Amino acid sequence: MCGIVGYIGKKDAKDILLHGLEKLEYRGYDSAGIYVQNKAQEGHLFKEKGRIAALREKVDASVEATAGIGHTRWATHGAPSVRNAHPHQSFSERFTIVHNGVIENYQEVKDAYLGDIELKSDTDTEIIVQLIAWFVEEEGLSPIDAFKKAIVALEGSYAIALMDTENPDVIYAAKNKSPLLLGKGDSFNVICSDAMAMIKETDQFVELMDKEVATVTRESLVIENFSGDIIDREAYTAEIDSDDLEKGTYPYYMLKEIDEQPAVMRKLLLKYQDENGKLTVDQEIVDTMLESDRIYIIAAGTSYHAGLVGKQLIESMTHIPTEVHVSSEFGYHTPLLSEKPFFIFISQSGETADSRQVLVKTNALGHPSLTVTNVAGSTLSRESNFTLLLNAGPEIAVASTKAYTAQIAVLAILSEVVGMSKGLIKKGTMLHDIGIVANAMQAIVDDKEKIEELASEYLSISRNAFYIGRGMDYHVALEAALKLKEISYIQTEGFAAGELKHGTIALIEEGTPVIALVTEKGVAGHTRGNLQETQARGAHTMVISMDGLNRPGDQIVIPHVNPLLSALVSVIPTQLLSYYCSLHRGNDVDKPRNLAKSVTVE
Ligand code: F6R
Repeated sequence: MCGIVGYIGKKDAKDILLHGLEKLEYRGYDSAGIYVQNKAQEGHLFKEKGRIAALREKVDASVEATAGIGHTRWATHGAPSVRNAHPHQSFSERFTIVHNGVIENYQEVKDAYLGDIELKSDTDTEIIVQLIAWFVEEEGLSPIDAFKKAIVALEGSYAIALMDTENPDVIYAAKNKSPLLLGKGDSFNVICSDAMAMIKETDQFVELMDKEVATVTRESLVIENFSGDIIDREAYTAEIDSDDLEKGTYPYYMLKEIDEQPAVMRKLLLKYQDENGKLTVDQEIVDTMLESDRIYIIAAGTSYHAGLVGKQLIESMTHIPTEVHVSSEFGYHTPLLSEKPFFIFISQSGETADSRQVLVKTNALGHPSLTVTNVAGSTLSRESNFTLLLNAGPEIAVASTKAYTAQIAVLAILSEVVGMSKGLIKKGTMLHDIGIVANAMQAIVDDKEKIEELASEYLSISRNAFYIGRGMDYHVALEAALKLKEISYIQTEGFAAGELKHGTIALIEEGTPVIALVTEKGVAGHTRGNLQETQARGAHTMVISMDGLNRPGDQIVIPHVNPLLSALVSVIPTQLLSYYCSLHRGNDVDKPRNLAKSVTVE
């Protein structure tokens, strides 16, 4: 949520910052801005509402500067507007700041230090820069001491970059809860919310930890804690292929990422195979899971939906009771925990603040935890005991697709390995079964024209829609509904098929699309019956069934796979239906309104 960048070196800072912001645009796109400064202490501020492309047009190409900071915003405090766009400046315009996060005590800080002066924006961020200026101007502190004093006064989350016209050769940075990396180069250094933003410049990054402050110049990166102790931290090499960040010939990242899913499945099988060709997972993870008496899966959004499928996989293969919780609820309304809980955090980004607040609490209680994530070195990965990586490659489209299927596949592999260790499974089949899944996925993405036609027929004018299913199909219905609503803006609900008749069926009108998922033999007839009930009331019905359970007239038949893995395949047509529906409605498929990819505020 919000992305920040900084560059100090010898090249044109404008270009580097704008390019970096384009790579961070998935974190928010309500407004964007850059501030660049040259050695003659001249600063130039450019801000625009909306996308980076709009900002690019506004930036004066003739400005020469080799240092600067930039921001792409997902609005929290204050409406999306130029007035509220970052960077924000002190009244004297000496200090300029960009910030990702939420300052919870901004009103108290304002009242305590700044009285009733009228601010220039409606943001919580502006308080920080005015406070720094106040400490310098009123208390005579040095900029770094003023910066430290200001952030000690703040409560909440922040990743901040600060520039001072009187010290043009330095950028200050600090963080708490929101992610921030420092990138090292030859006669330049960079700051970014995530490595993708600056991978074109460097692959050497140092993590800034909570409550640390960095002083970044062209030649050096100095990290210290609030007490002034210097921290020596090694750089790591970010393994990002910059080609993965481009969409090539695809019109949208979402379509590219949907198409990549068969390859992601195959890559995962290679990653989690030992030298004898057997699926394997770090033995410590297996042992810790075996020692636990209950598993708690914690996640948000699509990752939560992957967790629901994961519960079924874990319980059926390991017989360990498993609960799945929405992270924003769990942390503040924690249920009674078992004696030996094991926590599994599922998060594509590894940065979701709702999930992280739970991890902070479970760590404090000393409970073991595993993060299943796509981003090595992400906050959740660093702060939990174990990590299993998705290896899905960067997921850029806001609507998650390949991360969802990779999360389920990793949980399937983990479940089988634990089930085998426990002696519940004699001969593993997941290696073979996930291979079959990859082929089934391929068959569907190769036949996407048919799904495009169905999207036109069913969803072109509808106001609302329903996905229904039972068991695993119900979990996929929830994910399918989320995907459709978030990018098409059609109000869509996922329902347990049997539950519709207990109230929601009142919403069915002539032509309402109702899409049933039918991949589970034991309940297929019931689900079809529930669909009939909606059809009798005017619904425009569609069936996505699995080969073997299909009936004449079913609109989409997916290839047969191990029923435990059906979600991996049945979700693909629903992703494509969402994609085409959004495309036909003229929406920005990759950047739906009001959303951001990485939700780093609670
Ligand atoms: C929807 C979507 C979101 C995320 C959710 C959690 O398509 O992507 O619902 O799944 O914000 O994000 P992560 O997985 O990064 O924790």
